[in-house]
Amino acid sequence: MDQMKILLIEDDITVCSSLKLLLGKKGYTVDAVNQPNLAEDKINTFKPEIILLDMNFTIDTSGKQGLKLLRIIREAHPNISVILMTGWATVQLAVTGMKLGAKDFMTKPWDNKDLMVSIENIKSLHHGSFDNQPKGESRDSRIIGSSQQIKDVLSLVDRVAETEASVLITGESGTGKELIAEAIHFKSKRAQGPFVKVNLGALPETLFESELFGHKKGAFTGAHSDREGRFGVANNGTIFLDEIGELGLNSQVKLLRVLQEKSYEMLGSSETKKTDVRLLSATNKNLHKIAGEGKFREDLFYRINLINIHLPALRDRREDIPDLVNYFVKNIAELYETEKPYLHPNTIDWLSQQEYKGNIRQLKNIIERTFLLHRSKKELVQKDFLPSFQVNVSSNKAGQALNLQENEIETIRKALAKYDHSISSSARALGITRSSLYRRLEKYGIPHEPKI
Ligand SMILES: Nc1ncnc2c1ncn2[C@@H]1O[C@H](COP(=O)(O)OP(=O)(O)OP(=O)(O)O)[C@@H](O)[C@H]1O
Ligand SMILES: [Mg+2]
Repeated sequence: MDQMKILLIEDDITVCSSLKLLLGKKGYTVDAVNQPNLAEDKINTFKPEIILLDMNFTIDTSGKQGLKLLRIIREAHPNISVILMTGWATVQLAVTGMKLGAKDFMTKPWDNKDLMVSIENIKSLHHGSFDNQPKGESRDSRIIGSSQQIKDVLSLVDRVAETEASVLITGESGTGKELIAEAIHFKSKRAQGPFVKVNLGALPETLFESELFGHKKGAFTGAHSDREGRFGVANNGTIFLDEIGELGLNSQVKLLRVLQEKSYEMLGSSETKKTDVRLLSATNKNLHKIAGEGKFREDLFYRINLINIHLPALRDRREDIPDLVNYFVKNIAELYETEKPYLHPNTIDWLSQQEYKGNIRQLKNIIERTFLLHRSKKELVQKDFLPSFQVNVSSNKAGQALNLQENEIETIRKALAKYDHSISSSARALGITRSSLYRRLEKYGIPHEPKI
């Protein structure tokens, strides 16, 4: 049997040489590139069976680049197994990577034994019936829940989907607003058209027009070419304006205008463009109240809020928790192609009684994190879940330390939202280094979803 070839894509030379040594000793042929842009050529000449892919090149610690490279590899070379290496334990990043078809992931500093087990597993797969289909599921937008509250929401979704009415989706963070927006689009007559999401919370006021309406080359310094805006891209489909409560008053005027006139001009152009889009928006703020304070235009409020769909907090529909738990456990086990771990009814009961300030997103994170930390266990019990709660939920103990911590968490969350989850920009704004921001994200279990 030929020696199996492993390619390292990793910009840290010390990591490279220690891995080369380890894998070489185990009888693998190893080669390495330390820049992502050299990877493609090397893959074509070296023809590895396995790639160890670093997710965090020093130029970009958000993991974006690693995920992008992973996608390219999965598309061009579906037979190569990829193991991800990440510098910090971000469950979201790992899960995203697994959805894109990575076989496994290691967090640095990795355990050599774990790494060898993972490689050996892949090796046996290669020699058995090797399934080269990427396991990325199609977009999974199943909405779980059988509580009366969620039934009411879903029946409202059905009724409004086929209309052209603009819908404002409200609810606390993590209650499923985006999921509902997608559901409305895909059930509407526009389902075949584009669904364009714009996160207004992350959009600086100065970029609002060029982002939404587009610009002509030379419209401003830095406009090197024509760029189509989001309204143009969304034509004949749906535009979803997320975090609309964050929109500044100036931008509100511009948005109102395009909604009233159904037309707009690109920056640097006098040509009026028609737009045919259905508007959905979401916020976790009380827009009515903000409007009362003069911070949100009332005319805009009424225009976007023809219909309101309010998503109840998870604590108000605890009876949905068992279904959600089972669904998330099943999904993550499928993703990892392992047996679904057993959860005793008492464990599920206990989970149903916990506090989830971050609602369904938090529940999902807790399940995924716990599963990943106990990947080989046949049963997950209360004490396996506890640490994930501690990083995710602030305890009940009152006190100044906790308040300080809560403030810190809140500040970090805001910075992340504002800078569209860019670690570098958020760290800069917070006046801390990227690595100390990572440490805090880890410590507080702040979900930070990498954008691909
Ligand atoms: N009813 C549900 N069934 C299954 N998954 C759900 C449900 N509701 C939410 N989720 C999942 O929970 C996570 C959070 O949902 P989503 O992003 O839609 O929330 P959100 O209200 O937009 O949150 P935020 O205000 O923080 O942006 C997503 O991963 C989503 O798929
Ligand atoms: Mg959202």
